[in-house]
Amino acid sequence: MSLDAVLARIDSDLPAATDRLLELLRIQSISTDPAYKAACDKAADWLVADLQSLGVSAEKRATPGHPMVVGHVDGPGPHVLFYGHYDVQPVDPLNLWNRDPFDPAIEETAKGKVIRGRGASDDKGQLMTFIEACRAWKAEHGSLPCKITFFLEGEEESGSPSLVPFMKENADELKAEIALICDTGLFQSKTPAIMTMLRGLLGEEMTITGPDKDLHSGMYGGIAMNPARVLTKILGGLFDDNGVIQVPELYEGVPELSDEIKAQWAGLGFDAEGFLGDVGLSVPAGESHVTPLEMIWARPTAEINGIWSGYTGDGFKTVLPSEAHAKISFRLVGTQDPEAIRKNFRAWVEAQLPADCKVAWKDHSCSPASQMSTEHPAFEAARKALSDEWPDPAAYAGCGGSIPIAGYFKTILDMDAMLVGWGKDDDQIHSPNEKYDLESYHMGIRSWARILDAISS
Ligand code: BES
Ligand code: ZN
Repeated sequence: MSLDAVLARIDSDLPAATDRLLELLRIQSISTDPAYKAACDKAADWLVADLQSLGVSAEKRATPGHPMVVGHVDGPGPHVLFYGHYDVQPVDPLNLWNRDPFDPAIEETAKGKVIRGRGASDDKGQLMTFIEACRAWKAEHGSLPCKITFFLEGEEESGSPSLVPFMKENADELKAEIALICDTGLFQSKTPAIMTMLRGLLGEEMTITGPDKDLHSGMYGGIAMNPARVLTKILGGLFDDNGVIQVPELYEGVPELSDEIKAQWAGLGFDAEGFLGDVGLSVPAGESHVTPLEMIWARPTAEINGIWSGYTGDGFKTVLPSEAHAKISFRLVGTQDPEAIRKNFRAWVEAQLPADCKVAWKDHSCSPASQMSTEHPAFEAARKALSDEWPDPAAYAGCGGSIPIAGYFKTILDMDAMLVGWGKDDDQIHSPNEKYDLESYHMGIRSWARILDAISS
C-alpha cells in the first residue's frame, strides 16, 4: 500500500529529518526584537530553499514586517493550504537555559529523547513535521498526494501585524479548500487532538505617572502619591474572591457551554491535578463555579504579564518612583469583543485614578476567539487517520492559546481551518529549555502522511 511505503521512509529518514530541523533551529528568528530582523529573513530563505528542494515553487514575500514564505505545488484534489510560523519567542531569562537556546541538540531525558532549543516545539518543529511528511511522500511517489499551498509566517509571536493586509492582498492566491494549521498540541501525551475552539487575545500596556521625577522616599514618603501604590491597588481589584474579573461588561459574549460539549469534555477525563502538579501547583485559580477544563478552554482570563516600577536592581534604593507600568492580557472566548473590552478596561482604570495621577496606554495584540466548524469531510478523515497512528483515538478539543490566523481564514478567505499538532504540555514553549519530544516529531510526520493520505483518497 502506498501509505505504508511513505511511513517506512519516514522511519528510516528520521535522523536526516531531525538534522534539517536542527539547522532551522540554529537561526535566531525572534520576531518581536528588531535586533533579529536579519535572522528572521534568513529563516524565511532557509524555508524557501527547503520547499524548493521538494519541487515546491516557493518565494519569500516582503511585508512591512518580517517576510512571508508562500509556495505552491500542484497535485490532484483537494487543494489544501498549510500554515505554520517560523518566528520564535525571545529567550530570556537566558540564565535559566541549560544550553544555548540556538545551539539545539537531541538530549536524553528520563521521559525519552527530546529536541532542545528555542522554537523546537513552537513552531519550527511542528511546521517541519508537515514539510517532512511531504518530503517522504515525494521521495516515494515522485509527486504529492494533493495540491498544496504553503503559507509560513514570521510574525505570529508578535501579534501578526502584517498578516491581515497580506491575506487580503493575496486572497486569490491563498484561497484553498481547507487550511491545515500545525501550531497546537496533543490533548494528552498519547491522545491527539483536533482543536475546535481557540481563545482570542487582547494586550494592553499601561503606565501610571504621579510625581514628575523620582523622589527620595524619606523626604517625600507619606505626602507624595506613589504610582506603584496606585497601580497595585487597581490591579489588585481585577478579581473578586471567587476569581470573577471585575472589568464592567467583560463577560458579555461569553457563551454557556451546551450540555453536549460539557458531556464530551467530561468524557475526556482531564487530569487537572496532574496538569497543575507538573508546574508545582495544586489548586485551580479560576472562577470557583467553573470546571478546570472550562477555565482553560471556554472562559475569559485577565493576566498581569509584567509589572515594574522603581528600583529593581541589586541592593536597595529608597526611591519613590514617578512611574509604574504593567502589561496585561485578556484571553477571550465566544463573541467577546476585544475593542469593547479595551474601552471598558481603560475606563475602569481611569475611574480609579486618584488626584495627580495619570495613565498612558499602549495597544498590543487584539484578536477575537474563533470556533471551527468540523463539517468538512477532512475532519472525520483526519480524526480516523490520527486514531490509526496514536495509542488513543483523536479527540475534538478546545485550546487555551491564541492563533489569530485561524479565524482570519474564515473571515477573510472563507475557508475552514483544521488545527492539529503534536506539542506536549511540558514542552515549555515561550519558556527556558523549550523542547519537542523526538516522538512528537516522528509521530507528527507520520500523522501528516496519514492525514494527507486520508483526505486525498
Ligand atoms: N503556538 C502558540 C499557541 C498555542 C499555545 C497553542 C498553547 C496551543 C497551546 C502560538 O504560537 C502562540 O503562542 N500564540 C500567542 C498569541 C500571539 C498573538 C502572541 C499566544 O497564544 O499567546
Ligand atoms: Zn506557535
